Amino acid sequence: VLGSEETAAVTSVLHSGRLILGPRVSEFERAVAKCTGRKHAVAVSSGTSALQLALAAVGVRPGDEVIVPDLTWPSPGHAVLELGAQPALIDVDAESWNLSVQGVRAALSERTRAIIAIDQFGCPSPSRAIAQAFPEIPLIVDAACSLGSHDGDKPCAARGDVACLSFHPRKLVTTGEGGMCLTDDDALAEQLRQLRNHGQAGPGVFARAAGNHRLSEVAAAIGCIQLSRLSDMLTERRRLAARYREQLTHLSVQRWPAGTLGNEQTFGVVLPAYADRDRVIAALRERGIESGRLSYALHTLPQFAEPAARARALERTFPQAERLAQRGLALPLWVGLSYAEQTHVIASLQSVLSP
Ligand SMILES: Cc1ncc(COP(=O)(O)O)c(C=O)c1O
Repeated sequence: VLGSEETAAVTSVLHSGRLILGPRVSEFERAVAKCTGRKHAVAVSSGTSALQLALAAVGVRPGDEVIVPDLTWPSPGHAVLELGAQPALIDVDAESWNLSVQGVRAALSERTRAIIAIDQFGCPSPSRAIAQAFPEIPLIVDAACSLGSHDGDKPCAARGDVACLSFHPRKLVTTGEGGMCLTDDDALAEQLRQLRNHGQAGPGVFARAAGNHRLSEVAAAIGCIQLSRLSDMLTERRRLAARYREQLTHLSVQRWPAGTLGNEQTFGVVLPAYADRDRVIAALRERGIESGRLSYALHTLPQFAEPAARARALERTFPQAERLAQRGLALPLWVGLSYAEQTHVIASLQSVLSP
């Protein structure tokens, strides 16, 4: 949802002549920290950068293992591999499509250096229970999709040693490309600030080797306006998703754990075993409807061959991730989807799936 306020905010940055390291990034960081109840917010250039920096900041090194749910857009697994560490892949729960405490426990080893808990499609993961069960292991909450989701009275991004957000255009709040690391730990925040800015501890003081993961002033200015729209976007998305849930009772959908409230970042259904997902996508496209595959099972991707082999050797299997990766379909859901358009989606899906 982009409007004239975003245009004005961008124009004002351009007129100011200050494109990086200026007041908009600080303002956006303060606003997100307030909205999520965190002490520190460190804006970065993408959700993937946020994960890479978080892993490095909590001390993940080559040869370490990081527990990662198998069902996900590959970013969290890639971030682990890029540090020379190994993802220990675990299956997800059949209802919430998130990792579980039992899954984490079964995958622990003496090399486990961190856990990544993903709030998949904005559905709150059991990150609080994981932090309580394994207090000695750094917990990174991949909240890329879950800005606006709550677990009890706390925002999902309030959990974890570091929580990572994405502002990719498919997320509720977008800056084009962008991300953020959130933490309450002063030392971790300092590490994250250095890691995003060439390893500098101060101007020209290079404390370590690191890349450039900064967010621009233009992006942050868009983010400030977007954040002010979050509450309205949440209301509308939940209303639209509730209608899908009411109408598509014959299909399996994601279920939020008791006491949590998701943001409906993606609305997915699991197609029946007889349906060919790609054919369903093509048939919906013929009716003017864009749908897409829901997610990926990391153990099936070639770059995860080694973690997949290790999981097999330890007799860890991934039936739920496979089911969701093969049969999961993401349906159109955006603020502005009309009643008639949603009716067309529901009727078309029912007709495409009728024998
Ligand atoms: C769970 C999850 N983590 C991380 C990312 C990466 O975010 P970005 O696209 O901003 O790099 C995504 C992106 O969609 C995601 O779904």
